[in-house]
Amino acid sequence: MPPTCLSMYIAFLVLGCSFVTIVNAFSLNKSSSPAIPNHESVQSSLTNKMILAPLTRGGNLPFRRLCADFGMHTSVSEMIYARSLLRGDPIENARLRRSEGESIFGVQIATNQIDEGVNAIKRAVEMGADFCDLNCGCPIHEATRRGLGSSLLRSPKKLQKLVRGLVESSEIPVTVKIRLGCETNSINCLENVRAAREAGAAAITIHGRTAQQGYSKNADWDLIRRAVMETKDDGYGHIPIIGNGDILTYYEARRRMEETGVDSVMVGRGALCKPWIFKEFNDNATWAPDTKERVQIYRVLANYMKDHFGDDDMGRKKSWNFLPWHFEFLSRYTPYPEEDFAAQSIDRPLIQNRMVLPDHTDPLDVLLANRCSDAHEVIASILWDSDSDETAVQKLNIFAESQDFKRILTTGSVNEGEDKVLSNLPKGKAGKWGKRRGRKPGPKRTEEEIAQIRAERAAKKERILAEGGTWPP
Ligand SMILES: Cc1cc2nc3c(=O)[nH]c(=O)nc-3n(C[C@H](O)[C@H](O)[C@H](O)COP(=O)(O)O)c2cc1C
Repeated sequence: MPPTCLSMYIAFLVLGCSFVTIVNAFSLNKSSSPAIPNHESVQSSLTNKMILAPLTRGGNLPFRRLCADFGMHTSVSEMIYARSLLRGDPIENARLRRSEGESIFGVQIATNQIDEGVNAIKRAVEMGADFCDLNCGCPIHEATRRGLGSSLLRSPKKLQKLVRGLVESSEIPVTVKIRLGCETNSINCLENVRAAREAGAAAITIHGRTAQQGYSKNADWDLIRRAVMETKDDGYGHIPIIGNGDILTYYEARRRMEETGVDSVMVGRGALCKPWIFKEFNDNATWAPDTKERVQIYRVLANYMKDHFGDDDMGRKKSWNFLPWHFEFLSRYTPYPEEDFAAQSIDRPLIQNRMVLPDHTDPLDVLLANRCSDAHEVIASILWDSDSDETAVQKLNIFAESQDFKRILTTGSVNEGEDKVLSNLPKGKAGKWGKRRGRKPGPKRTEEEIAQIRAERAAKKERILAEGGTWPP
C-alpha cells in the first residue's frame, strides 16, 4: 500500500473509531437519563389494571409504597395545585415524589390555565412522573371557587381547550379524571369524555358520581359503560377508559370490567381500607389476613413513615398528620369472601354498606375495628414505638383489655366526661348547626365525605403554615 493510502486508511480507522466512540457515548448518555414515557407505554400501563386513585392525605408516599408491596403497578399522586407548586410551595413539591416500587406514577394537577399547567407538568417531568392527570372532579369549595376541579366539567368546550393546550406542550401523556358532572341536574359525562379524547387525552377516568352527590349515591356504572361503548364506536378504542367508584373486592372490580368494558378500574377507599386489594386483584382471590398479619402490615406502614419523615420527634410529628388518620379507613376492614358476598354486591356495592360489623370476640379485633380517633391515636403510638411485631401485638392486646379502651367503647373518648361518639362531624358548619338548639341540623355527611373534608382541611392547613401563615386563618 503506498504511504498516502496507508495514512488515509489509518486516518479513516481513527476517525471511524472516534465516530463509534462518540455515538456510543451519546447513546450511553441517552440511556442513562430516564426515558420520556410515550403514549403507548403509558396506555398499556393503564390497561387491565387496578390503579390507585389520587387521594389527598391518604395517598401519601409511605402508603403508596405499602400498596406497591401488594402488587400495585400504577398510581396517581395526591392532587397538587399547579399555582402553589409553581410558587415553590414545599408541600406541593413533596407531592411530586414517587415511592420505591411505584412502577408507573402519574402526578395529578389542579389547574385551569394552559401555561400554568404546562409549567407544572415540566416540574413533574423533572421529578420523573410518567404521566400527568388533570383533576376535573374535586368538589371542595377551595378548588371550585377558583374554577378548578369539578367546576371544569361545566363547560366541555373550555375543558377541551385546556386539555389540548396541555397535551400539545407536554412531554408526557396527559390523562383526565372526571365525574359524571358537576351538579346532579347537569350530567354531561359523555360530552366531557368526547371533549377530552378529541383533545388528545391519553386516558380518561370516570368517577361514577356527580360532584354534588359526594358519596351519597352508588356510583353509576351504567353511564360509565355508555361512555366506553361510545368511545369504542367512535374509533377511539385505543384510549383507555378507567372506571371508578365503590370497589372494595377483586370480584366487584372484575365484574365491573366485564359488564362495562372499562380498560381498568381505579380504587380509592377500597385501598385505604385494605391496601392488599391489589394482591387480591392480581391473584383473583380474596386474601383475609388474620389480626396478627394485619398488625404486621400496619407496622410496615409505620416503618415506611419513619423512613420517609424521619425516625425522630420531627418525623413522628409529620407522620401524625397521617398515621392515626389511616385508621379511619383501616378500622373498616371486613373480610368479604366471594362465596358469601358476591351475589349481595350486585345489589349494593359492599363499600356502601352501613356498618356490617362482624361479631368480634377477640379483644384485639374489637380494638382494630374501633372507629374513635382516640383509639386510632393509641394504635398509631403503639405501632410507632414497638420494635417488633410481637411487641406491637402484645401492647395492643394490653390496651384492648384496659379501662382506657373500655371508656372509649362506652363514651368514644379516653377522657371521662368527653363524649366523642356523636361528634363525628368536622367542626365546620354542619357540626355547629347540630349543636344549636331549635335549629335544623346541617347536612349529614357520610364518613367518606368527612374523611375527604378532613383531608382537604389538613392539606390547606399544611399549605398555609408552610407559606408562613397562621392557623386557623
Ligand atoms: C380521602 C380522599 C381523598 C381524595 N382525594 C382526591 C384527590 O386528591 N384527587 C381526586 O381526583 N380525587 C380524590 N378523591 C376521590 C377518589 O380519587 C375517588 O375518585 C373516589 O373516592 C371514588 O372512588 P372509591 O369509591 O374507590 O373511593 C379522594 C377521595 C378520598 C376518600
